[in-house]
Amino acid sequence: MLNPKDTKILSTSDENILIAANLINKGEVIAMPTETVYGLAADATNPDAIRRIFKIKGRPQDNPLIVHISDFSMMERLTVNVPQIAYKLAEKFWPGPLTIVLPKSNLVPHEISAGLDTVAIRMPSHDAALKLIEESGVPIAAPSANKSGSPSPTTANHVFDDLNGQIPIILDGGSCKIGLESTVVKFENEEVIILRPGIVTVEDIKGYGFTVRLASGVFEPPDNDAPIESPGMKYKHYSPKARVILVDSDIDEFTKYVESNFSDGDFCLIFDSDSDTMRLPHLTYGGDSREQAEQLFKKLRELDKLNASRVFVRCPNKHGIGLAVYNRLLRAAGFEVVVIE
Ligand code: TXA
Ligand code: MG
Repeated sequence: MLNPKDTKILSTSDENILIAANLINKGEVIAMPTETVYGLAADATNPDAIRRIFKIKGRPQDNPLIVHISDFSMMERLTVNVPQIAYKLAEKFWPGPLTIVLPKSNLVPHEISAGLDTVAIRMPSHDAALKLIEESGVPIAAPSANKSGSPSPTTANHVFDDLNGQIPIILDGGSCKIGLESTVVKFENEEVIILRPGIVTVEDIKGYGFTVRLASGVFEPPDNDAPIESPGMKYKHYSPKARVILVDSDIDEFTKYVESNFSDGDFCLIFDSDSDTMRLPHLTYGGDSREQAEQLFKKLRELDKLNASRVFVRCPNKHGIGLAVYNRLLRAAGFEVVVIE
């Protein structure tokens, strides 16, 4: 018999979206698909529901949440003094994998913004997410639906593995097309600052004539004495149980390095094209950057299931979408990279 406490995985039929919207309106926390990763969703205007998100995820209280909207009028209610540049950027990339940090209105509970005077807003492009926001009639706060510290979930089963018994339902919208979390930006005057790189790249934003800069936290561990631009940068994040060792080299040097350091229980995570010559236990994570983005978290979770003790990862390209993949791997590796010229 099914345990009544078991979490149900439901399709994204209209009927199930209605069930999910009713749960949201009652202050429950559920999981929803988005085009990036699955989100742990609750009514962004309900402080109790928000507190439950933090509790279920085991998330540090000082790490604020993204609020998901389905139209611009919701953004208007949640923000004040929105600069023109924000509208221009939103018009280009919404609905889609871009999160914009803006000055918040009084409607945003302090639980969401974790004491900051800003709120991060995103209009997702996944149909089920948009329908759920419309149907519930409220903006939806949603961090990635993983236990804090583990890789973000890109399938309903990943969410189930992390949160079974803690939420009533998971809406199953299939495997996330993008697989990495959204690009997070803020503004300084007319400059776009990228706090977290994603599938919307520096090049994409520059392509529309904006001036763009990467926040220092994209490449470096946080300096404990400096103010943090985006609290999420403080945490290790995206990390499987195995120790991740990021190796920046060509495949020949990579293989030599791994062969001389390999122990039982270790694995490699390499490109599809490396697979023919690799003799050591390995998984691959795609060919181009887009595939790597889509597969990275899935493969890190698979490595946990294989009980990998250490994972030697072939370093992705650091430009375009590759930068987002690199940023997640840097964090998983605790910012240590073995560079072999
Ligand atoms: O793709 C995504 O963004 C997914 C899906 C579910 O939408 N969500 C997601 O949420 O990745 P989360 O909570 O895992 O990551 C939110 C990031 C954190 O790094 C957080 O610090 C940052 O956004 N953030 C949120 N509010 C902020 C704010 N007001 N100022 C600066 N950074 C903020
Ligand atoms: Mg997250």
